[in-house]
Amino acid sequence: MLMVISLSIWSTDWQQSLWVIVTRMWTLRLLSKLKRCNFSLSNELEALLAEKIAQLIPCAEMSRFGKNGSDATTAAIRLSRAYTGRDEVAVCGYHGWHDWYIGSTDKKLGVPEATQSLTHKFQFNNIDSLEALFKKRKDKIAAVILEPMNITYPEADFLPGVKALCQEYGAVLVFDETVTGFRFDLGGAQNFWCYTRLSNFGKGIANGMPLSVVTGKKEIMQLLDEVFLFHLWRELLSIAAALATIEKLEKQSGIQKITTYGTQLKEGLEALISQFSCSDFLSVSGNPVWSFSIYMLMSLKSYICGKHSTCKRR
Ligand SMILES: Cc1ncc(COP(=O)(O)O)c(C=O)c1O
Repeated sequence: MLMVISLSIWSTDWQQSLWVIVTRMWTLRLLSKLKRCNFSLSNELEALLAEKIAQLIPCAEMSRFGKNGSDATTAAIRLSRAYTGRDEVAVCGYHGWHDWYIGSTDKKLGVPEATQSLTHKFQFNNIDSLEALFKKRKDKIAAVILEPMNITYPEADFLPGVKALCQEYGAVLVFDETVTGFRFDLGGAQNFWCYTRLSNFGKGIANGMPLSVVTGKKEIMQLLDEVFLFHLWRELLSIAAALATIEKLEKQSGIQKITTYGTQLKEGLEALISQFSCSDFLSVSGNPVWSFSIYMLMSLKSYICGKHSTCKRR
Protein backbone atom coordinates (compact mmCIF):
# COMPACT_ATOMS: atom_id res chain seq x y z
CA MET A 1 0.00 0.00 0.00
CA LEU A 2 1.21 3.49 -0.83
CA MET A 3 0.74 6.52 1.37
CA VAL A 4 1.49 9.93 -0.06
CA ILE A 5 1.91 13.00 2.11
CA SER A 6 2.38 16.50 0.83
CA LEU A 7 5.66 17.95 2.01
CA SER A 8 4.15 21.40 2.30
CA ILE A 9 2.83 20.53 5.77
CA TRP A 10 6.44 20.27 6.87
CA SER A 11 7.38 23.77 5.78
CA THR A 12 8.32 26.00 8.67
CA ASP A 13 5.16 27.46 10.14
CA TRP A 14 6.56 30.89 10.94
CA GLN A 15 7.57 31.48 7.30
CA GLN A 16 4.11 30.44 6.12
CA SER A 17 2.38 32.67 8.69
CA LEU A 18 4.60 35.62 7.85
CA TRP A 19 3.90 35.20 4.14
CA VAL A 20 0.16 35.08 4.83
CA ILE A 21 0.28 38.19 7.06
CA VAL A 22 2.33 40.14 4.53
CA THR A 23 0.01 39.32 1.61
CA ARG A 24 -3.02 40.21 3.76
CA MET A 25 -1.41 43.61 4.50
CA TRP A 26 -0.77 44.03 0.77
CA THR A 27 -4.43 43.21 0.14
CA LEU A 28 -5.61 45.89 2.58
CA ARG A 29 -3.24 48.40 1.00
CA LEU A 30 -4.84 47.67 -2.39
CA LEU A 31 -8.37 47.93 -1.03
CA SER A 32 -7.62 51.20 0.75
CA LYS A 33 -6.80 52.76 -2.65
CA LEU A 34 -10.34 52.21 -3.92
CA LYS A 35 -12.57 55.25 -3.67
CA ARG A 36 -15.77 53.23 -3.52
CA CYS A 37 -16.24 49.56 -2.97
CA ASN A 38 -18.91 47.08 -2.10
CA PHE A 39 -17.43 43.77 -1.01
CA SER A 40 -20.10 41.65 -2.67
CA LEU A 41 -20.66 43.42 -5.99
CA SER A 42 -18.65 43.66 -9.17
CA ASN A 43 -15.63 45.93 -8.94
CA GLU A 44 -12.87 47.22 -11.20
CA LEU A 45 -10.35 44.98 -9.38
CA GLU A 46 -12.04 42.01 -11.03
CA ALA A 47 -11.20 43.41 -14.48
CA LEU A 48 -7.63 44.19 -13.36
CA LEU A 49 -7.18 40.61 -12.22
CA ALA A 50 -8.61 39.19 -15.46
CA GLU A 51 -6.18 41.41 -17.41
CA LYS A 52 -3.26 40.28 -15.25
CA ILE A 53 -4.17 36.63 -15.79
CA ALA A 54 -4.37 37.24 -19.56
CA GLN A 55 -0.83 38.69 -19.45
CA LEU A 56 0.59 35.76 -17.52
CA ILE A 57 -1.20 32.60 -18.60
CA PRO A 58 -0.79 31.38 -22.20
CA CYS A 59 -4.36 30.18 -22.83
CA ALA A 60 -6.07 33.02 -20.93
CA GLU A 61 -8.13 35.38 -23.06
CA MET A 62 -11.21 35.60 -20.83
CA SER A 63 -11.62 34.61 -17.17
CA ARG A 64 -14.41 33.99 -14.69
CA PHE A 65 -13.85 33.69 -10.95
CA GLY A 66 -15.22 31.20 -8.43
CA LYS A 67 -14.52 30.26 -4.84
CA ASN A 68 -12.79 26.87 -4.86
CA GLY A 69 -11.08 24.36 -7.13
CA SER A 70 -14.22 22.26 -7.65
CA ASP A 71 -16.15 25.36 -8.82
CA ALA A 72 -13.56 25.96 -11.50
CA THR A 73 -13.11 22.36 -12.75
CA THR A 74 -16.90 22.02 -12.99
CA ALA A 75 -17.05 25.31 -14.88
CA ALA A 76 -14.43 24.04 -17.35
CA ILE A 77 -16.37 20.81 -17.90
CA ARG A 78 -19.71 22.58 -18.37
CA LEU A 79 -18.12 24.98 -20.86
CA SER A 80 -16.50 22.08 -22.76
CA ARG A 81 -19.84 20.29 -22.93
CA ALA A 82 -21.56 23.43 -24.21
CA TYR A 83 -18.80 24.06 -26.76
CA THR A 84 -18.69 20.54 -28.19
CA GLY A 85 -22.34 19.56 -27.72
CA ARG A 86 -21.09 16.30 -26.14
CA ASP A 87 -21.55 14.83 -22.66
CA GLU A 88 -18.65 12.54 -21.76
CA VAL A 89 -15.40 13.37 -19.99
CA ALA A 90 -11.98 11.66 -19.71
CA VAL A 91 -10.10 12.07 -16.41
CA CYS A 92 -6.86 10.80 -14.92
CA GLY A 93 -6.41 12.46 -11.53
CA TYR A 94 -8.33 14.25 -8.77
CA HIS A 95 -10.57 17.12 -9.83
CA GLY A 96 -12.76 17.96 -6.83
CA TRP A 97 -15.90 16.72 -5.15
CA HIS A 98 -18.62 17.51 -7.70
CA ASP A 99 -20.79 14.74 -9.17
CA TRP A 100 -19.29 14.67 -12.68
CA TYR A 101 -15.87 13.72 -11.26
CA ILE A 102 -16.40 12.03 -7.91
CA GLY A 103 -18.88 9.66 -9.55
CA SER A 104 -15.91 8.03 -11.31
CA THR A 105 -14.20 7.17 -8.00
CA ASP A 106 -14.98 4.81 -5.11
CA LYS A 107 -16.49 7.81 -3.26
CA LYS A 108 -19.46 7.80 -5.63
CA LEU A 109 -22.21 7.15 -3.09
CA GLY A 110 -25.06 9.58 -3.76
CA VAL A 111 -24.07 10.28 -7.36
CA PRO A 112 -26.70 9.16 -9.92
CA GLU A 113 -25.60 6.24 -12.11
CA ALA A 114 -26.40 8.22 -15.23
CA THR A 115 -23.83 10.83 -14.14
CA GLN A 116 -21.24 8.19 -13.19
CA SER A 117 -21.45 6.64 -16.65
CA LEU A 118 -20.39 9.87 -18.35
CA THR A 119 -16.86 10.00 -16.88
CA HIS A 120 -14.09 7.63 -18.02
CA LYS A 121 -10.59 7.11 -16.69
CA PHE A 122 -7.24 6.91 -18.42
CA GLN A 123 -3.70 6.76 -17.01
CA PHE A 124 -1.17 9.56 -16.72
CA ASN A 125 1.89 9.01 -18.95
CA ASN A 126 0.01 6.28 -20.82
CA ILE A 127 -1.11 7.77 -24.12
CA ASP A 128 -2.39 4.39 -25.33
CA SER A 129 -4.98 4.34 -22.54
CA LEU A 130 -6.38 7.67 -23.78
CA GLU A 131 -6.27 6.62 -27.42
CA ALA A 132 -8.16 3.42 -26.60
CA LEU A 133 -10.80 5.51 -24.81
CA PHE A 134 -11.20 7.87 -27.77
CA LYS A 135 -11.50 4.92 -30.17
CA LYS A 136 -14.17 3.33 -27.96
CA ARG A 137 -16.22 6.47 -27.24
CA LYS A 138 -15.55 8.07 -30.66
CA ASP A 139 -17.31 11.45 -30.92
CA LYS A 140 -18.82 11.37 -27.42
CA ILE A 141 -15.97 12.92 -25.40
CA ALA A 142 -16.37 16.63 -24.70
CA ALA A 143 -13.25 17.17 -22.58
CA VAL A 144 -10.03 15.57 -21.43
CA ILE A 145 -9.09 17.04 -18.06
CA LEU A 146 -5.80 16.39 -16.30
CA GLU A 147 -3.16 18.00 -14.12
CA PRO A 148 -0.07 18.69 -16.27
CA MET A 149 1.85 17.09 -13.42
CA ASN A 150 1.09 15.55 -10.05
CA ILE A 151 3.59 13.25 -8.35
CA THR A 152 5.45 12.24 -11.51
CA TYR A 153 6.79 14.41 -14.32
CA PRO A 154 5.05 14.04 -17.68
CA GLU A 155 7.11 12.06 -20.20
CA ALA A 156 8.35 14.24 -23.06
CA ASP A 157 5.71 13.21 -25.59
CA PHE A 158 2.78 12.60 -23.22
CA LEU A 159 1.18 16.07 -23.03
CA PRO A 160 1.74 16.85 -26.73
CA GLY A 161 0.21 13.41 -27.44
CA VAL A 162 -2.87 14.25 -25.32
CA LYS A 163 -3.20 17.56 -27.14
CA ALA A 164 -2.93 15.87 -30.56
CA LEU A 165 -5.59 13.28 -29.66
CA CYS A 166 -7.94 16.03 -28.43
CA GLN A 167 -7.47 17.86 -31.72
CA GLU A 168 -8.03 14.69 -33.74
CA TYR A 169 -11.21 13.71 -31.89
CA GLY A 170 -12.58 17.24 -31.37
CA ALA A 171 -12.45 17.30 -27.55
CA VAL A 172 -11.43 20.27 -25.40
CA LEU A 173 -8.15 19.80 -23.50
CA VAL A 174 -8.44 21.21 -19.98
CA PHE A 175 -5.42 21.66 -17.74
CA ASP A 176 -6.43 21.52 -14.10
CA GLU A 177 -3.84 23.87 -12.59
CA THR A 178 -5.47 24.07 -9.17
CA VAL A 179 -2.16 22.92 -7.68
CA THR A 180 0.46 23.71 -10.33
CA GLY A 181 -0.85 27.26 -10.97
CA PHE A 182 1.15 30.12 -9.44
CA ARG A 183 3.61 27.57 -8.05
CA PHE A 184 5.39 25.94 -11.01
CA ASP A 185 5.50 29.24 -12.85
CA LEU A 186 3.56 32.51 -12.92
CA GLY A 187 2.06 31.30 -16.20
CA GLY A 188 1.25 27.90 -14.71
CA ALA A 189 2.69 24.58 -15.84
CA GLN A 190 1.22 25.33 -19.27
CA ASN A 191 3.89 27.99 -19.68
CA PHE A 192 6.50 25.31 -20.28
CA TRP A 193 4.43 22.24 -21.21
CA CYS A 194 2.16 22.26 -24.26
CA TYR A 195 -0.52 24.90 -24.34
CA THR A 196 -4.15 24.13 -23.66
CA ARG A 197 -7.38 25.92 -24.66
CA LEU A 198 -9.03 25.94 -21.26
CA SER A 199 -7.68 25.73 -17.73
CA ASN A 200 -8.54 26.35 -14.13
CA PHE A 201 -6.63 27.73 -11.18
CA GLY A 202 -7.17 27.92 -7.41
CA LYS A 203 -5.33 27.62 -4.14
CA GLY A 204 -2.02 29.47 -4.81
CA ILE A 205 -3.56 32.34 -6.76
CA ALA A 206 -4.80 34.24 -3.68
CA ASN A 207 -2.39 32.72 -1.14
CA GLY A 208 -5.09 30.84 0.74
CA MET A 209 -8.01 33.24 0.33
CA PRO A 210 -10.99 31.53 -1.34
CA LEU A 211 -10.66 32.17 -5.06
CA SER A 212 -10.54 30.07 -8.20
CA VAL A 213 -10.50 30.88 -11.91
CA VAL A 214 -11.64 29.27 -15.10
CA THR A 215 -9.82 30.83 -18.02
CA GLY A 216 -9.26 30.12 -21.67
CA LYS A 217 -9.75 30.95 -25.30
CA LYS A 218 -12.44 33.45 -26.22
CA GLU A 219 -14.30 31.08 -28.54
CA ILE A 220 -15.06 28.81 -25.56
CA MET A 221 -15.24 31.35 -22.73
CA GLN A 222 -17.72 33.61 -24.52
CA LEU A 223 -20.31 30.86 -24.13
CA LEU A 224 -20.57 32.22 -20.59
CA ASP A 225 -23.20 34.57 -21.99
CA GLU A 226 -25.45 31.50 -21.97
CA VAL A 227 -23.74 28.94 -19.71
CA PHE A 228 -24.77 29.60 -16.12
CA LEU A 229 -21.95 29.76 -13.56
CA PHE A 230 -21.52 31.07 -10.03
CA HIS A 231 -24.63 33.07 -9.18
CA LEU A 232 -23.67 35.89 -6.77
CA TRP A 233 -20.18 34.44 -6.15
CA ARG A 234 -18.60 37.89 -5.89
CA GLU A 235 -16.40 38.74 -2.95
CA LEU A 236 -13.87 41.49 -3.39
CA LEU A 237 -11.41 40.54 -0.66
CA SER A 238 -10.19 37.40 -2.47
CA ILE A 239 -9.84 39.28 -5.77
CA ALA A 240 -7.69 41.91 -4.00
CA ALA A 241 -5.73 39.13 -2.31
CA ALA A 242 -4.97 37.54 -5.70
CA LEU A 243 -3.71 40.86 -7.11
CA ALA A 244 -1.56 41.34 -4.01
CA THR A 245 -0.22 37.78 -4.18
CA ILE A 246 0.69 38.04 -7.86
CA GLU A 247 2.37 41.41 -7.28
CA LYS A 248 4.47 39.94 -4.50
CA LEU A 249 5.31 36.80 -6.46
CA GLU A 250 6.48 38.99 -9.34
CA LYS A 251 8.37 41.64 -7.37
CA GLN A 252 10.01 39.33 -4.87
CA SER A 253 10.83 36.38 -7.16
CA GLY A 254 8.34 34.24 -5.25
CA ILE A 255 8.45 31.27 -7.62
CA GLN A 256 12.25 31.09 -7.46
CA LYS A 257 12.09 31.29 -3.66
CA ILE A 258 9.61 28.45 -3.22
CA THR A 259 11.60 26.40 -5.72
CA THR A 260 14.78 26.99 -3.70
CA TYR A 261 13.12 26.18 -0.34
CA GLY A 262 11.38 23.14 -1.85
CA THR A 263 14.65 21.86 -3.32
CA GLN A 264 16.40 22.26 0.05
CA LEU A 265 13.56 20.39 1.75
CA LYS A 266 13.60 17.60 -0.83
CA GLU A 267 17.38 17.21 -0.77
CA GLY A 268 17.47 17.30 3.03
CA LEU A 269 14.84 14.60 3.25
CA GLU A 270 16.60 12.48 0.63
CA ALA A 271 19.86 12.75 2.61
CA LEU A 272 18.06 11.60 5.80
CA ILE A 273 16.42 8.72 3.94
CA SER A 274 19.83 7.58 2.77
CA GLN A 275 21.50 8.17 6.19
CA PHE A 276 18.90 6.04 8.00
CA SER A 277 18.59 3.44 5.20
CA CYS A 278 14.88 4.07 4.75
CA SER A 279 14.77 3.97 0.96
CA ASP A 280 12.89 0.63 0.96
CA PHE A 281 9.78 2.30 2.29
CA LEU A 282 10.21 6.06 1.96
CA SER A 283 10.91 8.21 -1.06
CA VAL A 284 10.34 11.78 -2.22
CA SER A 285 8.67 12.65 -5.48
CA GLY A 286 7.32 15.64 -7.38
CA ASN A 287 8.38 19.12 -8.33
CA PRO A 288 10.24 20.94 -5.51
CA VAL A 289 7.37 23.46 -5.19
CA TRP A 290 4.90 20.66 -4.48
CA SER A 291 6.69 17.51 -3.37
CA PHE A 292 5.38 14.40 -1.73
CA SER A 293 6.91 11.84 0.55
CA ILE A 294 5.77 8.36 -0.41
CA TYR A 295 5.56 5.58 2.17
CA MET A 296 5.44 1.91 1.25
CA LEU A 297 3.43 0.85 4.30
CA MET A 298 4.24 -2.88 4.25
CA SER A 299 7.99 -2.23 4.04
CA LEU A 300 7.65 0.38 6.80
CA LYS A 301 5.97 -2.22 9.03
CA SER A 302 8.76 -4.74 8.52
CA TYR A 303 11.36 -2.01 9.16
CA ILE A 304 9.71 -1.11 12.49
CA CYS A 305 9.22 -4.76 13.42
CA GLY A 306 12.85 -5.47 12.66
CA LYS A 307 13.97 -2.66 14.98
CA HIS A 308 11.72 -3.30 17.98
CA SER A 309 11.82 -6.56 19.84
CA THR A 310 8.27 -6.05 21.25
CA CYS A 311 7.01 -5.94 17.73
CA LYS A 312 9.02 -9.03 16.83
CA ARG A 313 7.34 -11.04 19.57
CA ARG A 314 3.80 -10.47 18.21
C1 LIG B 1 -5.98 19.12 -8.94
C2 LIG B 1 -7.14 19.53 -8.11
N1 LIG B 1 -8.28 19.91 -8.71
C3 LIG B 1 -9.37 20.30 -8.00
C4 LIG B 1 -9.35 20.30 -6.62
C5 LIG B 1 -10.57 20.72 -5.86
O1 LIG B 1 -10.30 21.91 -5.18
P1 LIG B 1 -11.20 22.34 -3.92
O2 LIG B 1 -10.90 21.38 -2.82
O3 LIG B 1 -10.73 23.74 -3.61
O4 LIG B 1 -12.63 22.30 -4.35
C6 LIG B 1 -8.18 19.92 -5.95
C7 LIG B 1 -8.12 19.91 -4.49
O5 LIG B 1 -7.19 19.47 -3.86
C8 LIG B 1 -7.05 19.51 -6.69
O6 LIG B 1 -5.91 19.13 -6.10
